[in-house]
Amino acid sequence: MINIKIKIIKNEEGNTVGQFITNSKNHKSIITCCSTLISTKPSTVLIENNTNNIIKIVKARRSLEKIKLLWLHSRLQKEISGAKTLNRLGFKTPRIFEQGIAIPFTSNNLGYYIMENLTLTGMREAEVVFLDKKTSPELRQKIIITICDGLLELYRNKIVFTDFHLGNVFSDINGNLTWIDTGVTKYHIKKKRNQKFIKSTARFLNYYGDTFFLENEKDLLLELIKSASKLDKDIR
Ligand SMILES: Nc1ncnc2c1ncn2[C@@H]1O[C@H](COP(=O)(O)OP(=O)(O)O)[C@@H](O)[C@H]1O
Ligand SMILES: [Mg+2]
Repeated sequence: MINIKIKIIKNEEGNTVGQFITNSKNHKSIITCCSTLISTKPSTVLIENNTNNIIKIVKARRSLEKIKLLWLHSRLQKEISGAKTLNRLGFKTPRIFEQGIAIPFTSNNLGYYIMENLTLTGMREAEVVFLDKKTSPELRQKIIITICDGLLELYRNKIVFTDFHLGNVFSDINGNLTWIDTGVTKYHIKKKRNQKFIKSTARFLNYYGDTFFLENEKDLLLELIKSASKLDKDIR
């Protein structure tokens, strides 16, 4: 007998946000009520009642993205496998507790995953840390250096985090980082990889306007672009 487990996720108003085929081992059918943290075009991020875990629902921006679910290559699966890849390379990412794919045609969602809530571990989004006037220049510098080391280490492994900005990394009070939104891509062709890296680093540099980063921080990011291009000579 086929035993498909369905998870229905509802928001705080009790409206169904999505219905999913889940890999949750505990329950056959679960209804969870959650409060919305963020809802944008590509995703909805909710806080699960009782557990306070984070539920990220990834939406399809185009119909083709739903088809990509079939060969495990949708944005949902890329984020989950990207987290595993980052872990293998020594990066910290939130623990993922369960995941599921959307029941086709019932919504515009691709699926969801449930992960640890980093805010409860005392971490803050790096963007929040940078916007906080009380943050020391030393902590800012440490975060930027750790980000540059991280992005370069990914590049050494032919991976580019094309959507990188300070909203996709959390920091503790000492500047130790945990990476989220890990839909990273591996580029085997050197030229394409380098183009993607330069474009995404330049985008990150200008993401918050001209005056957001301090001069030494901008220099570190410009240095990062040069280091990656130098590295290319050694990567086959
Ligand atoms: N594990 C988490 N713990 C705490 N907050 C989170 C977590 N995951 C996401 N968030 C919050 O939700 C925001 C959006 O999540 P993200 O995965 O970056 O979605 P998107 O794909 O829409 O950018 C983050 O910037 C962060 O504020
Ligand atoms: Mg993000």
